[in-house]
Amino acid sequence: MYNLLKGKKGIIFGALDSKSIAWHIAERCYEEGAEFILSNTPAALRFGSLKELAEKTNSEIVAADATSMEDLNAVFTRAMEKFGGQIDFVLHAIGMSLNVRKNRSYDDVDYNYYTKTMDISAFSFHKILQTAYKLDAIKEWGSVVALSYVAGQRTFYRYNDMADAKALLESIARSFGYIYGRDRKVRVNTISQSPTLTTAGSGVKGIDNLMDYSDRMSPLGNATAEDCANYCVTLFSDLTKKITMQNLYNDGGFSSMGMSQKAMHVYNASLELEKIVD
Ligand SMILES: NC(=O)c1ccc[n+]([C@@H]2O[C@H](COP(=O)([O-])OP(=O)(O)OC[C@H]3O[C@@H](n4cnc5c(N)ncnc54)[C@H](O)[C@@H]3O)[C@@H](O)[C@H]2O)c1
Repeated sequence: MYNLLKGKKGIIFGALDSKSIAWHIAERCYEEGAEFILSNTPAALRFGSLKELAEKTNSEIVAADATSMEDLNAVFTRAMEKFGGQIDFVLHAIGMSLNVRKNRSYDDVDYNYYTKTMDISAFSFHKILQTAYKLDAIKEWGSVVALSYVAGQRTFYRYNDMADAKALLESIARSFGYIYGRDRKVRVNTISQSPTLTTAGSGVKGIDNLMDYSDRMSPLGNATAEDCANYCVTLFSDLTKKITMQNLYNDGGFSSMGMSQKAMHVYNASLELEKIVD
């Protein structure tokens, strides 16, 4: 441990259970000396295991639907009350698509679901930033991070409307990052994470094969939730003060690859198999 976050206070949105990326981030932030509030929806608090994380990290839980400005206002107000003023960091680890969950393909989306996907997975990031900005809740040189996926930039079969949500999420980081940096010296970034087996991740059909493909394509292999947590700690720390408005890949090199030897092996083998079957 490096005490990178000693004395820093924050809010962590989106830890549901021990598989959640936000769970790992919270554990690492705690190890590095941070104090924080944990937030999730009332339903997630009932079905998940957030209490266990709160006990482990000596944190308070504040329930909030991140699509509700009223709820967000209450979370930030409570955080400022609890910590006696402005905070240092915020994590947005929130995503959900009913089209993905209910198997509605991208050429047959339900538009109510589509609107919900955007509200939960992308507008909520804007809402968090706007709430923090209006309350002046984040200190100078504070840091806000949201979690994204490469499907925001390249097309991935079955990632569906979440791809659009991620594209918007990354754009919000740039647009709000400019204003927040200009006015308050607060930095705003997204981490584009490798596929990871979590509750949200498992919603994407074929996640196991996608993870295998991604792992074969990445020279360093898939980044785990722990890797993501380590990276996130650096972004919340004072070591990355001038990094803002970026979409930062934590993906073992996947996003720069076209074809790898390991993936080619599998491709060749399946072509051979096809010839045998033919
Ligand atoms: N798992 C992956 O493969 C992967 C890869 C890249 C990025 N991400 C992103 O990481 C983030 C965290 O997801 P995860 O994979 O850890 O899964 P997860 O299911 O553990 O986390 C998703 C969280 O979003 C919360 N949430 C849903 N609706 C909400 C709302 N209205 N208000 C507040 N919270 C709400 C859920 O309760 C849950 O805690 C998401 O943005 C996801 O898209 C995941």
